[in-house]
Amino acid sequence: MSRKEITITIDGVECRTYEGEYLLNAARANGIFIPAICYLTRCSPTLACRICLVEADGKRVYSCNAKAKEGMSVVTQTQEILEERRAIMEVYDVNHPLQCGVCDQHGECELQNYTLELEVDSQRFAIADTKRETKNWSTVLHYDAGLCIVCERCVTVCKDMIGDSALKTGPRGGGAVDKSYKESAPKDAYAMWNKLQKSIIVPSNGTEHTNCSDCGECTAVCPVGALTERDFVYKANPWELKEIPATCMHCSSGCQIYYETRFDSIDNTEEKIFRVKNEWNYVSLCGAGRFAYDYENRGVTKDTEAFDRAVEALEKAETIRFNSFITNEEALMLQTLKREKGIKLYNPDARAFQKFLEIYRAKSGKSLYESDYREIMRESDFVISVGSKLRNDNPNARYAFNNVQKMNKGSGFYVQPVGDKLVPTFGKSVECFEHRPGDEEAALYLLLDLFADREKLSKNIADYLATFHEKREKSVKEKVMKEVTQKVVDKETGEEKEVVKKVPEMVEKVVEYDHNLLVERLGGDAENFNELFEKMNKKKESRALIAGEDLYTHPRYENIASLLHLIEKSCDMKVVMVPPKGNSIGVSLICDLDDEVSGYTVGYNEPGDFRLSALGDGDLDMPAMNQQEGTMVTMNRQVVPTNAALEYGGYELNDLMNALGQGKRLTVEWTEDLPLEKGFQKVRFDDLPNGYTNDGKEMRGYPLTIERSKASTPTAKRVDDSVVMEGGDIAYRANPQRQFNDFTDKAHQIFETFSLRASPERAKELGEKVEVVFEKGSIVLDVTADERMSGDIVEIPDFKSDSGVVDLFGGRRYAKVTIKKV
Ligand code: SF4
Ligand code: SF4
Ligand code: FES
Repeated sequence: MSRKEITITIDGVECRTYEGEYLLNAARANGIFIPAICYLTRCSPTLACRICLVEADGKRVYSCNAKAKEGMSVVTQTQEILEERRAIMEVYDVNHPLQCGVCDQHGECELQNYTLELEVDSQRFAIADTKRETKNWSTVLHYDAGLCIVCERCVTVCKDMIGDSALKTGPRGGGAVDKSYKESAPKDAYAMWNKLQKSIIVPSNGTEHTNCSDCGECTAVCPVGALTERDFVYKANPWELKEIPATCMHCSSGCQIYYETRFDSIDNTEEKIFRVKNEWNYVSLCGAGRFAYDYENRGVTKDTEAFDRAVEALEKAETIRFNSFITNEEALMLQTLKREKGIKLYNPDARAFQKFLEIYRAKSGKSLYESDYREIMRESDFVISVGSKLRNDNPNARYAFNNVQKMNKGSGFYVQPVGDKLVPTFGKSVECFEHRPGDEEAALYLLLDLFADREKLSKNIADYLATFHEKREKSVKEKVMKEVTQKVVDKETGEEKEVVKKVPEMVEKVVEYDHNLLVERLGGDAENFNELFEKMNKKKESRALIAGEDLYTHPRYENIASLLHLIEKSCDMKVVMVPPKGNSIGVSLICDLDDEVSGYTVGYNEPGDFRLSALGDGDLDMPAMNQQEGTMVTMNRQVVPTNAALEYGGYELNDLMNALGQGKRLTVEWTEDLPLEKGFQKVRFDDLPNGYTNDGKEMRGYPLTIERSKASTPTAKRVDDSVVMEGGDIAYRANPQRQFNDFTDKAHQIFETFSLRASPERAKELGEKVEVVFEKGSIVLDVTADERMSGDIVEIPDFKSDSGVVDLFGGRRYAKVTIKKV
């Protein structure tokens, strides 16, 4: 999907934009204001509000829905347009409750803003009000139907971006608009009012609850106070809150967020985070990003004795065990200890990713993947996810996969052993392959088979692919026109005569077809796959592959990295990866990690003989994520800054470094020393931007440079059948959707428990509690039924660092286990 640059004029100003871009977006990108209520950038237009009305080449169009063409002339204001917009706002104000003084949106309400902007100072319209109930949905949502202006933004974001499609419009029970207004009200205002009067928002599953991902994005996009975070209702006024631009580090998305803080209460003047906000036009948060903001290591003071013991511990440490929920600066401090003191650095998730990237680099000549998720959402129309539990692992990978289906009329393959009921609902052209764990090599060979330009493959690989094809026979039903003789009576003469007619008939016949053994082994319908694929692939121009953590932790990860390179070279397919945890990219680039832990160990937010911990349970306290400044590397390869929202009174890693003779004055002074040879830049922390421009360009930090070297000839080994798991109990290491680490677990609005999750059927068989026995130990867990899972593989979380789950799995994501009822 290539984008052609064009020139249009808006209100006489020459504007550069892209062919097919919506006029509203073109205007915004060029700094021209057009009022718009229902439209959300990156989502499909709903035409609910009609306020974005403009004239394009003399015709009335809605700018959120009309596409730019070379030379187009757009006028954003005429007398008629202004009257129409003012009347629309008058209609929105009809019966809107006068409770602004206590409304949670007061001060940042678009209804207030546009009412003033369009100079509505009187009301011509009236209708009897309808009683509309206030509801609590799911675990976090509060819906006040009385305040709802039915702009449908919540419905749209949930469908087009999040993929849950958990909301829809439902009947309001309101009376009909008086016909006399048809004459007195402008056309669009009248039509909009009629529609508005019929609807409110309801859960789309027909129940009283949304049973959704609890991301809260619908509350973020709501222009009024109708849909809010339940916990925030009547807690604070938006204008009292201080906005602190930061980065969410719970996963590798690294979304830009604002912590909103204020004093706690009249009795307690300590600063508190009241909520997290985002630039919802350009970034969508998940439930962890939005709700897991409120764990801080509070009340900590400088404990000098504990500090001295920590220095001693680091002096004698053989290993530091840590995870990827740390900043680049902290990673660099740890690497300095390794370099200066020879201390081993142990971080299994980042190490697996690092090893994978090392092979990928040796093969492809690139230190990292070149594409990013923003590009995929903008341009791809066939997206394939292999080796990631898309619903759980990384929200932005999931949103990208869903958004391609919705916005780019895309197709998608979802290739993963654990059955998921949500992903297939993302689009009509999503095909799922629930294959056996370990068979990811075959999945990548299938991509080569379907998409590779054979000219670009070696004879060896092409011959290997040919072995997966067999000529087989199948019976198909075909419509044929059959001649039948019928007796008819001539109406005029009354005579009976025979006529021959052709009538359609379905006949069964046997045909030969190409049976793809790779499709079959991956659990697909090989008999009908060719027709399906032809349909899915029709007119598709831009393909993308999302590679997940199952691939880096695979016993054959080296061959998998080779296959990715081969796919990039021969399939004209963009490749992106899902980094396993928060700052895995940063850590894997900055630190020389070790494969094992040994000797006296200092744990940093991880178990150890001496524990540095932000979790309030350590031998020496450390700051929590919302109390730190520093940078991380996002999955879009952007080095972005985060800021401290809350004060912290204790010691930081940099203080320990100072005591060990290696520190700097401030933690953020490490930012400009991040390794240039790994793609970082020499930039001061305070010079890093953290925002978006009007056209959605991400101005956050700087892009990591991809280091290049000579690529090797693309080739790969054959599939190794011996690593494929079959039969018996199989466990998969995966977290619930909103749990990523110990910090999310401590947040008061995140409720997912540390338990074994299984499909409802499997959970019923297992009972309430089980012991899961691994090769090297066992764990006892409660069982939770996950309505969105299917199949027999069970999921075990690793978000508690002291649970030992990562070690039980031996660093892999799948394990053969024995599950016993307790
Ligand atoms: S709840 Fe908010 S976002 Fe949803 S339709 Fe109502 S006003 Fe619009
Ligand atoms: S919380 Fe998220 S998933 Fe649930 S309805 Fe709102 S947007 Fe949809
Ligand atoms: S913004 Fe265009 S119709 Fe609402």
